[in-house]
Amino acid sequence: MSESLPVSAKRLLRVLAGETVWPPPLWLMRQAGRYLPEYRAVRARVKDFIALATTPELAADVTLQPIRRYRLDAAILFSDILLLPWAMGQGLAYRAGEGPVLPPLRDAAGVASLDTKGFLPRLEPVFTTVRRVRQMLVAEGLGDTSLIGFAGSPFTVACYMVEGGSSRDFAATRLMAFNQPALFARLLDVVSAATVAYLSAQIAAGAEAVMLFDSWAGVLSPGQFHEHVIRPTRDIVATLRQLHPGVPVIGFPRLAGMLIEEYVSATGVNAVGMDTGMDIALVRSLLRSNTALQGNLDPMALVAGGDALRREASAVLDALRGWPAVFNLGHGIVPQTPPAHVAQLAEQVRAG
Ligand code: CP3
Repeated sequence: MSESLPVSAKRLLRVLAGETVWPPPLWLMRQAGRYLPEYRAVRARVKDFIALATTPELAADVTLQPIRRYRLDAAILFSDILLLPWAMGQGLAYRAGEGPVLPPLRDAAGVASLDTKGFLPRLEPVFTTVRRVRQMLVAEGLGDTSLIGFAGSPFTVACYMVEGGSSRDFAATRLMAFNQPALFARLLDVVSAATVAYLSAQIAAGAEAVMLFDSWAGVLSPGQFHEHVIRPTRDIVATLRQLHPGVPVIGFPRLAGMLIEEYVSATGVNAVGMDTGMDIALVRSLLRSNTALQGNLDPMALVAGGDALRREASAVLDALRGWPAVFNLGHGIVPQTPPAHVAQLAEQVRAG
C-alpha cells in the first residue's frame, strides 16, 4: 500500500506515496507530441511513428523535449499503448488523419496467433529508451524529474485490437464481450500477462512509476466494467506490487464516472487519473482512502489560453488543495495547443 513506499525527494514520487505536496507536481498527458515544433522536426526525420518509438536516441530526445521547455515534474516514456499488440505480431500502422489501423481480431484463431512468447525482445528498444532517459535527465541537470513508464489497460488495448483501430463507441468489442465471453476473457488474459511483463521490464530499466491508460473504460456497464476493467487491473497491480514493491501505479479509468470509487478501492492503485468531467470535490468525498488524485484540466482550456485557462486551472488547483495531488489534464494535449499556453499554465501551477 502507499504507506509502505520508500521516501523520495522527487515531488511526483512523494505525492504518489501519499504525501500532500504544494504546489502540486505537474505533468501533462501527451506532453511530447505534434503541438511542439521540435517534435515535428524529429518526427519528419523518420518514416513513421513506429520507427520513432523504436529508435532509442530519437524516442529519448522526444521524451525530454517538454521537460527542457517547461521543467515539468515528470517525463513520460515516448511510446504508444499499441506497441504491445504490434510486438505480439498484430499488424499496426499509423495513418495521418486516421490514427492507428490494425487488422481486426474477432475470432479464436486471431487470439491464438498472438505471439505470447517472443514479444518482449521486440520491445527492447523501448527499454533502451527508458535507460537512456534516466541517464540524460541526470546529465542535463533535470535530476528532480521522475520518469513514468506506461501501458494501455488490457481492456483499452483489446478495444483497438478487436475494432482494428479507433472507434466512437467500440461496438464490436462490447459485442464480442457479450457474444463470445470466453474468447474475450482469453484475449484480456493474454494482454494482461503481456502487460505485466512489459511494465515490469520498463521498471527494471528505470521507470520510477507506471501508468495504465484505460481510455475507453467508460463505454462499459457497471457489471462489464467490473469484469473487464477492474478485474484485470487489480491482478496487474497485485503482481507488479509483488515484483516491484515500492513502484507506484497510476490508473486512468477514463469516463468511469461514479465507478471511480470502486476502481480505486478494488484495484489498489496508488493514484487515479480523473477525466475532465470528474468533480474533484465529489471524488474526494467518495474515496475511502487518501489515494493520490491526478487531473483534470480540460485540454481545450489549454488551447483557449488567456483568462479561460487561468480560471479553469485555478478551479482545478483549488479543488486539489490539501490532498496528495498531481496537476494534469483530463485527457491528452491536442496538436493545435499553442506551446506558449503550456508555459502560462506551468507558471500558474508553480505559483500554487
Ligand atoms: O507524451 C506522451 O504522453 C507519451 C507518449 C504517448 C503517445 N500515446 C504517443 C503518440 C502516450 C502515453 C500515448 C497513449 C495512448 N495512445 C493512448 C492512451 C491515452 C489517450 O489518449 O486516450 C491511446 C488511446 C493511444 C492510441 C493512439 N496512438 C491513437 C488513438 C493515436 C492517433 C491519434 C493521435 O493522437 O494521433 C496514436 C498516435 C500517437 N501516439 C501519436 C503520439 C505522439 C501521434 C502520432 C504521430 O506523431 O505521428
